[in-house]
Formats: sequence, structure tokens, C-alpha cells
Amino acid sequence: MTLATIIDCDPGHDDVMAILLGARTTDLRAITTVHGNASLEQTTRNARQTVEFAGLTHIPIAAGMAAPLVQAPSYAPEAHGVTGLDGPTLAPPTVPLVPQHAVDYLLAQSRQIADLTLVPVGPLTNIAAALKQDPGFAGRVKQMSIMGGSLTFGNRTPAAEFNIWADPDAAQVVFRSGIPIKLVGLNVTLQVVASPTIRAHIRSLPSTTARHVADILEFYSTQPGNSGAMHDPLAVAALIDPSILTFEPMYVTVETHGSITRGMTLCDGRHLGPDFRALRHRVRGETPNAEVAVAVDAARFWELFLDVLATYP
Ligand code: BDR
Ligand code: CA
Repeated sequence: MTLATIIDCDPGHDDVMAILLGARTTDLRAITTVHGNASLEQTTRNARQTVEFAGLTHIPIAAGMAAPLVQAPSYAPEAHGVTGLDGPTLAPPTVPLVPQHAVDYLLAQSRQIADLTLVPVGPLTNIAAALKQDPGFAGRVKQMSIMGGSLTFGNRTPAAEFNIWADPDAAQVVFRSGIPIKLVGLNVTLQVVASPTIRAHIRSLPSTTARHVADILEFYSTQPGNSGAMHDPLAVAALIDPSILTFEPMYVTVETHGSITRGMTLCDGRHLGPDFRALRHRVRGETPNAEVAVAVDAARFWELFLDVLATYP
């Protein structure tokens, strides 16, 4: 059965890829937007432009939190340009927004959709705000596939990945929520990059949508902040094709106070791997709260993504 999903995002070049993939491979019920790669106003505008150029205007869009729970907002122009979606020339959007705040909308949808899967691919402020507003929300969400964090190094700082760094306090609320989580972090997403060959293939597809995607990836691939990594669509891929990513259960906490490690995801993998075999019986960490991606089959991802892209007009 097709998964009922909501993508919570901050478009963002790779967020656009997540929307395009999710709209064809899941029952994508809505898009909710959040501050992150750019201001909320701008990420919401980018989401509206995306559904318009891809012929997905039937998917409702609700705008959410403009700032993190505690800290001041901070954007990512080094990765996505000042608009959050620099590169393509897109028409000003006309599709209306849902006349409800995304947090209220998420809460309402969780009551209406029996098996709701969330795909958060931006800072986790909307999800944390929904959990704070209604603790029953956790019990009504089947699972989440999050793009965020890293098992190795960060991108926004040496320790922290952007989505978690942009609102660590929200991320901590989410990891403590008890909702089953798949975590797709930089350690795998940086291995899936839109190479010149892939971009040329996309441009050659007989599709206006694919041409916009090629323009988007062209800009994105030249930015120092990301090098064309397909971070966000991998969180969608994690749900639909188990052959793309390999996961291991771990207990994940977020550093919310460290002066140089704020926003770091600390993933307890001490029970894994031969190096720790001796410790396995002695070290008993917290019960895992997430399935963390440890390996990715990039070729398989591209096969799926390019097949899906070819279905767009
Ligand atoms: C994440 O940060 C954003 O810039 C991307 O859209 C992605 O969600 C990667 O660190
Ligand atoms: Ca994103």
C-alpha cells in the first residue's frame, strides 16, 4: 500500500528533489514549510513555485515556523543562494496556501490520516512545535524519515549538519518523542552527488520539469556548501526502496549546549562493529531511538530518481 506522507521542508534545491520523488512514489498529502535554507517567506514561495512547475498544484502547502524554538534564525545562502532556490528562472507563484499554520495543519492531518509518515528535510521546528502543542501527536504519527545529522563530520560546522544545527532544541524534542525514526545523514548523502553526466542526462529528457531540475542542479552543484549532494530525496528513498540505504539502530542525542559542537548528533553505535565486540557485553547504552543510515547504493538511487523524473511533463 502506498505510504501517506507529508514532506516538511525548507526548499532548497534538494528539497525540490524530495518533493518530486515523494509526489510520484508516495501518497503525498501535503507540503509544510519551515525556515531554514532561507526565510520562511522565501522557502514557502519556493515550495509554491515547485508544485507549479511540476504540475503538482493539487498538493496543499501550509507555511509553518519562521524561527527556531530558542535561537535566532540563520540561513544557508552559501549552499542555496539568497532566495534559497537560486538558479532557475521560475514564474511568480499563484497557487494559494492552506489558510492554517503548518503546525495546526500537521496536528489536524495526524488525526485524519491513520498511518501518517512524516518526511522532515529541513530544521525540525514545525515537528517539535506540534509535539509541544499536543503530546498526543507522537502517538498518531506512524514514522518519520529525517534528513539530518551525521555519523561523521558536519557541513555547517565541523560537528553539525545544517538541519540539526539550525534548530538543535527542536531536534532534541523530536529524537525524544518516541516516534519511530529513520535518520539519513551526511555520512550517506554526501556519497550521492549530481555529477555532470547525470545533469546532462536530466537536461536531455523531453520534459519541462526535467529542464527546471537541470537548471536547479546546475546552480546547486557549483555551490561550496553542498557540491550537488542529494540529501533530501534520500529521506524519501529510504521509505520506498529498502535496497538503497542500510540502517543500524542507535540512540541519537543532540548537542544543544556545546560551545563548538552545538547541533551535533551523537549516535551511540558502541554495540556495533568488530572494534566494539569486546565492549558489547559491558557497555549498555540507551535503547535505540532511531534507525541510522550507515551505507548507500548511489547507483540504485539514481536509477529510481531518473525513472521518476521521466514521468514528469
Ligand atoms: C540539508 O541542509 C539543507 O541545506 C539541505 O536542503 C538539506 O536538507 C543538508 O545539510
Ligand atoms: Ca532541506
